[in-house]
Parts: sequence; structure tokens; C-alpha cells
Amino acid sequence: MLNRKIVILFSGEGSNLLNIIEKLHNKELEVVAAITNRPDAGGIAKARAHHIPVDIIDHKKYADRESFDRALLKQVRSYAPDLVVLAGFMRILTPVITQNIKAINVHPSLLPLFKGGNAIRESFESSEPTGGISIHWVSNELDGGEIIAQESFQKEAGETLESFTAKIRALEHKLLPETIVQILKAL
Ligand code: GRF
Repeated sequence: MLNRKIVILFSGEGSNLLNIIEKLHNKELEVVAAITNRPDAGGIAKARAHHIPVDIIDHKKYADRESFDRALLKQVRSYAPDLVVLAGFMRILTPVITQNIKAINVHPSLLPLFKGGNAIRESFESSEPTGGISIHWVSNELDGGEIIAQESFQKEAGETLESFTAKIRALEHKLLPETIVQILKAL
């Protein structure tokens, strides 16, 4: 096991969060905390079931992005992680965060195609013959930081949004833990 700590940020169902916990926690590294901006996020129960501390920082309680980001930064820093992993964290971050933490993000398209929050549908509906995922460093530009890893798949005849989404999830669940371990080993 590497002597490394990560913090995971999430907003939704937390399938990536759960996958990282199940594959890596107390095996390759320590997941010291999971932080969400949504009090109703499905991932909260998943993390707590594995005894991972969960902090809820509700963005609606903050006047602007910077004040939310300052609260988030303070909380992240309290855990002194080696790396922060954004796994379905659906917030636009300001330089308050992006310039002060070392973080990676998983995005459900072959960047630079289909940046933003609607990537799966846009990629599915596009004329591109492939779909895919990207893992990139978090920078000041939304979904625009340096790409670390990508994987793609062919769209098949009769592909539905559901089957397309399932392929993306499966790739995320494979590539994100692999990439985290690779980064932490190189630190
Ligand atoms: C993933 O597709 C991720 O790429 C995107 O949000 C989704 C999160 O899913 N940004 P989950 O919460 O990990 O299940």
C-alpha cells in the first residue's frame, strides 16, 4: 500500500466514488474524506457505508462561487491530501480552488470535444463514430486542463443513450482508479 491520502469530491450517485473506495481504499491508498456540494447526493450513503467521513458543503448557502470555494478549500486542506479526485463533481470552480489544490477530474467525453455538463448526451447525439472518457488535471479552464489518460469505444448500431452511458461508466470505473494509482506512485 502507498502511504498516500486522497479526498474525493462528488455531486451525484457516486458510482465512481464507490468504485474508488472498493478498489483502492486501504489497499493502495487511504480515502481520507469525501466532500459533496449536494445534501441529497446518492454517494453520501455509499461512502458512509464504508466508514469514509463525508462533508456536505451546500453551495446554495454561499453568496458566490468564491465564498463556496474558500469553504471547500479550507475543508480539503484540513485533510492534507496528496491528491484531490473530482468524480462527478458538478461545480464550476474558481481559481480559489484550481490554483491551490492538486486535482484531477474524470470527464465523460474525448476532450477537447464536448466540454461541460451535458457531455454524454452531446457525444451520443453527435456524428462522431466513437465515444470515450478523459482524465485531466484540473485547471482554471473548465474541462480544459492537461489530459492524463483517455479511452474510447465505437458506437454500435442500435446504441441507445442508456447503453452508451453504461459503456462510459464502465470505462471510468476502469481508468480512473488506474490513473490515480499511477499518479500517486509518481509523486
Ligand atoms: C460521470 O460520468 C462523470 O464523468 C461525470 O459525472 C458522472 C458521475 O457519475 N462528470 P457518478 O456520480 O460517479 O456515478
